[in-house]
Amino acid sequence: MGPEEFRAAGHELIDWIADYRGRIPQLPVQAQVAPGEVAGKLPSHAPEEAEPFSQVLADLDGIVVPGVTQVQHPRHFGWFPSNASLASVLGDLAASGLGSLGITWQSAPALTEVEEVMAEWLRELTALPASWKGVISDSASSACLVAMLAARERATDYSKARGGLQSQSAPLTVYTTAHAHSSVPKAVALAGYGLGNLRFIDVDPVTYAMRPEALAAALAADVAAGLRPAAVVASVGTTGTTAVDPLAQIVPLARRHGAWLHVDAAMAGSALMLPEMRWLVDGVEGADSLAWNPHKWLGTVLDCSLLYVADPDHLIRVMSTSPSYLRSAVDGEVTQYKDWGIPLGRRFRALKLWFHLRLDGAEAIRARLRRDLGNARWLAEQVSSTPGWRVLAPVNLQTVVLRHEPPGAVSGTGAVLDADALNAHTLGWADWVNASGAALVTPSVLDDMWSVRVSVGAEPTERHDVEALWRLLKEAVESS
Ligand SMILES: Cc1ncc(COP(=O)(O)O)c(C=O)c1O
Repeated sequence: MGPEEFRAAGHELIDWIADYRGRIPQLPVQAQVAPGEVAGKLPSHAPEEAEPFSQVLADLDGIVVPGVTQVQHPRHFGWFPSNASLASVLGDLAASGLGSLGITWQSAPALTEVEEVMAEWLRELTALPASWKGVISDSASSACLVAMLAARERATDYSKARGGLQSQSAPLTVYTTAHAHSSVPKAVALAGYGLGNLRFIDVDPVTYAMRPEALAAALAADVAAGLRPAAVVASVGTTGTTAVDPLAQIVPLARRHGAWLHVDAAMAGSALMLPEMRWLVDGVEGADSLAWNPHKWLGTVLDCSLLYVADPDHLIRVMSTSPSYLRSAVDGEVTQYKDWGIPLGRRFRALKLWFHLRLDGAEAIRARLRRDLGNARWLAEQVSSTPGWRVLAPVNLQTVVLRHEPPGAVSGTGAVLDADALNAHTLGWADWVNASGAALVTPSVLDDMWSVRVSVGAEPTERHDVEALWRLLKEAVESS
């Protein structure tokens, strides 16, 4: 495809995207396809001859759109917001159009330097410590793995250069809670600690936040047993309930034991743009690293996750490689992001942040985040004030965890009387909502019982959408 053919097809594609975004409210939120249905509509073999662009667009409409759960839908309340602001979509397209190769500063100086500036803009907007430096990665999961590798090397005085973990006399231990995202145990396992050395610290039964005194006890017990605490992963905004582990109390404990403190704020990081929400990370200046995802609530299209570190020199020492073909005269003067993570070749992800912030502006983004927080509070108030309904966790952010409890399901003191029946009821009405296509919510387990998470925060979601959802939930418990 040459530039002129691209120009014509590109205009058609932009029109297609704009039309698609306009008609999302008419589409079912949850993809209504059966497993294998999408693949069954594709030819078994790649085409030998070029096809017309119109045929490709027709298949986007006919095959792909029905096969996608519409997370840009105003009534998407599932999992977490996965907003793809159109401003950032343009930046992503520009990045692909440039086709730059981010392997060293020299291979695309702008790729590196725009990324440095974007990380700094976002640091300032979220009021994270001024001395921290950031890097864009694909996901909070990768960022957590990088943090666990950095923690391992700090705890072992760079054992990677010697016998690695296998040469350690004392096993290294890591601390988090059972409410941490599944990417935390995954990172701990992949970084070689072994899941047997991961401690799930007790949480407060009401807030689901890590109990610092339980962390202190676990650290002391492990040290007494000859183990070496290497890392603590604190969650600010857990996936299940948006619980907030208290950094101000956790930081001194981690420091006392020389353990790396990584903060996973994947979802909640966006809220730090709001001064009134900075309480979420009180004490963060004592942490070693923090990751959050602009590709969630903020709305910079996937994939765009920010990892901040207090000591970039340490990270570089852990991650750097220096093959001869990547060396240059400016080494030492410039940032080489290949030395801040795992991949060598990196996309120009900073462009979508740049476009997003420039074309939407921080103030409009703040207003949207405040709108979502207000909508979640409104929904929580309706639920708590309606007999038979219960909000199950503090509404710290934009997620409401709720349950409908039909007569006889719980005792006067709130104890569940028939867990199987209540679970079947919850899953039944949640499935009814999702199968209707009118909205999407996420069932999840809390305290061994099924509950339903309503995650407010899709970019087009307004109060009337949340009101419609609330009507739908009440209809669902009657109809399912
Ligand atoms: C608290 C938390 N941490 C980590 C993740 C993982 O994010 P990613 O998909 O960027 O790896 C999520 C995503 O749901 C999350 O909610």
